[in-house]
Amino acid sequence: MGNINTFNFLFTDDRSVGLYDVSVGDIYHSKFGALTEAWEKFILPINFEKNFINKKELKVLDICYGIGYNTKALLKKLFQTDFNGQVKIDAIEYNNNLVLLSPFIIDGFQNSIPEISYVLCKNLINNIYQNKDTLTNLILNNYKFFAPFYKSLIKKYKYWGYSYNIEKQNNLFLHNIYYHCISKRFKSYQNAFKNKKYVLNPYFMDARKAIKLIDSCYDLIFLDAFTPTKLPTLWTLDFFKELYLISKDDSILVTYSNSAAVRHAMIDAGYYVGKIFDKMNRPSGTIASKNIKFIKNQLNDFDLGLIETNAGIYFRDINLCSTPEEIFYEYNLRKKSLNLESSSHYIKSNKNKRETVQ
Ligand SMILES: C[S@@+](CC[C@H](N)C(=O)[O-])C[C@H]1O[C@@H](n2cnc3c(N)ncnc32)[C@H](O)[C@@H]1O
Repeated sequence: MGNINTFNFLFTDDRSVGLYDVSVGDIYHSKFGALTEAWEKFILPINFEKNFINKKELKVLDICYGIGYNTKALLKKLFQTDFNGQVKIDAIEYNNNLVLLSPFIIDGFQNSIPEISYVLCKNLINNIYQNKDTLTNLILNNYKFFAPFYKSLIKKYKYWGYSYNIEKQNNLFLHNIYYHCISKRFKSYQNAFKNKKYVLNPYFMDARKAIKLIDSCYDLIFLDAFTPTKLPTLWTLDFFKELYLISKDDSILVTYSNSAAVRHAMIDAGYYVGKIFDKMNRPSGTIASKNIKFIKNQLNDFDLGLIETNAGIYFRDINLCSTPEEIFYEYNLRKKSLNLESSSHYIKSNKNKRETVQ
């Protein structure tokens, strides 16, 4: 597990704030845009209007919530469509500071759909209260990355405690945000905001622990862990087997990873697996489901061949508690003993089969 307090804030190209993790040595968000990435890699591929619009209840698992772009992008989709059901989002993230900062960070939604911050604050208010000193310090030390309205509000919130009890203080905080949203509200979102129930339930812990506590099944799973080769923990066959158990029959799991090993692990866990392409027709992730009808671009012969090479060897974590070092160590031993064809050799000799566009 990486050290959970070693992140730096930065602006990405679409002006939404992203993060870089110093201890893992990996970015949290694409430099092209944190918000754009969430929309293109997690929301467009699920084809919400076709697959989920008529659900009475939508159950979502956001694994590696971070500062919440995937959840926020989904909320945007819900506000934009005629979806009338209830929404329950379980958000797993072992760094609670990130989750609690998520409503306040400059994300590209504060001006266009301020209700999203309100929905998050409403659900996180008790945790925000308990951590208000830490949050205030983080915000003050990274001032330019937070939305102006929230910066002033959270400063006041810290000191209101002298004249209000906790409940009154929390209500006042939410009340201010609510009226801020109303004053900015786009007419088209009015009903979506008023009539729907959005429940966000945070799990501040290692995702491997959290999924053991979960006793429900999901329609939609977002998996947004750090790159497998940097942090293999949430890309193992054993973790995908757990996800399979909590996936509904008509559900979709979506991730940004194109890794052959990740796809292989998903297949061996029982999923049908397909590719995702961005609007330029470049591979931009992977989609998995128990139901083949959700897989638009199935893996072709080239992809299936690739997962049989050394690039397709997946990580293992049988008891779901190994350290990254233990996972890499076991992987390297197995890779050596399997002695499979190298992926570069395979790619060279199967050039003609390769199709990046379908
Ligand atoms: C690539 S970032 C995800 C970005 C996020 N979806 C967002 O919108 O900001 C990976 C996140 O996973 C969290 N993380 C990494 N390993 C984890 C684990 N085993 N359990 C829970 N969270 C984890 C990190 O703290 C980090 O916030």
